[in-house]
Amino acid sequence: MGDGGTSRTSESRRAAARKTAEGLAYLSGFGNEHATEAVPGALPEGRNSPQRAPLGLYAEQLSGTAFTEPRAVNRRSWLYRIRPSAAHPAFARAADDGPLRTAPFTDVVPDPNRLRWNPLPEPAPGTDFLAGLWTLGGNGDATQRTGMAVHLYHADSSMERVFSDADGELLIVPERGGLLLRTEFGLLHAEPGHVALIPRGVRFRVDLLEDTARGYVCENYGSPFRLPDLGPIGANGLANPRDFQAPVAAYEDVEGPVEVVGKFCGHLWTATYDHSPLDVVAWHGTHVPYVYDLRRFNVIGSISYDHPDPSVFTVLTSPSDTPGLAGVDFVVFAPRWLVGENTFRPPYFHRNVMSEYMGLVEGAYDAKAEGFVPGGGSLHNMMSAHGPDRETFDRASAAELRPQKIDDGLAFMFETRWPVTLTPQAAAAEHLQPRYDDVWRGMERHFRPLH
Ligand SMILES: [Fe+2]
Repeated sequence: MGDGGTSRTSESRRAAARKTAEGLAYLSGFGNEHATEAVPGALPEGRNSPQRAPLGLYAEQLSGTAFTEPRAVNRRSWLYRIRPSAAHPAFARAADDGPLRTAPFTDVVPDPNRLRWNPLPEPAPGTDFLAGLWTLGGNGDATQRTGMAVHLYHADSSMERVFSDADGELLIVPERGGLLLRTEFGLLHAEPGHVALIPRGVRFRVDLLEDTARGYVCENYGSPFRLPDLGPIGANGLANPRDFQAPVAAYEDVEGPVEVVGKFCGHLWTATYDHSPLDVVAWHGTHVPYVYDLRRFNVIGSISYDHPDPSVFTVLTSPSDTPGLAGVDFVVFAPRWLVGENTFRPPYFHRNVMSEYMGLVEGAYDAKAEGFVPGGGSLHNMMSAHGPDRETFDRASAAELRPQKIDDGLAFMFETRWPVTLTPQAAAAEHLQPRYDDVWRGMERHFRPLH
């Protein structure tokens, strides 16, 4: 398994991972009651917990929601594994949590300013996905299962260890470099332009498919992401359920020491197992990891004038206890046509009770002419004024309004009901842009009163 500890992942291992990633089969459909077995006969028929599970496997339930949550939102899976998850030694606190931080975020005074960052610097040699998770900030409280965190990641090495996060689900947004996610449920392939979701508590390991990997992670402490309701849009549109892909069962039968790291209430804990915990031979259920290709998003927009609010670009939402008010929404600005007549076509000027963290997977975003780069990000906190920069405003105000295809970028937003408080490392980062406010500087006065 090893390739020399902290050295970069070997090219042969990356090539093998690429080959595996390209040949993967999937189960399709968001929230389906999937069922899959890597070995014929491993999945019991007609019951979840027979007196003796097939093939000498152990049956285990993984509950992602309380037993009693409504059926429509209930998430649980039954796993049939070589050893039960309970068979592990005590966890001990890891030496440190690296640059990974967890809510509540109380070290920095919440900042009302518009903020923008360049991409993370290159990782130190030997950085795997877990070591490369760098927390920008967030809100809520992981121990109360409310709120979210914004992380970025950079890595140059595949993981040898296995990770799981009890604090929340992880929505991974690759920006550079493909990933092969080896999970308890099977394997997922996520390239830039895809998102991958690892549910709360699910163990996984990340293999890199290129020399380096970089991207974003929304850690959602609240209710699991689900598809938004469609209302008058109808029965189809936005992210279509069938495009969400879950893994088929695949397992590791590895006897020998495996480091397993868990994040629990904000800290990393580690234990060395005598076997791989990615040993699930069959499973069925609804608490499952998945990947989704953002280019499959069915973009809904205006065919007359004005823009609908960007909530119409919501891919996934984590509802809160208040109807219509999300703990966090994941929103994508995908390629689309703009056809509005007598309409200012870029995103409008805005002040919002919700807080908006934006990232860019590729290309450019139609509200910012420059400075917002792939791998970078911006934060427009509660009620901070934002919108197109001066150059974009001037250009769009004078543009001839022919049908126009926006197809050179893929931006996204984590939009959350609570302000985002920074970590000290994000507030003091060298890659924090010092003069972001300047993009709105010198907006000319055009007011001409008639009298
Ligand atoms: Fe906004």
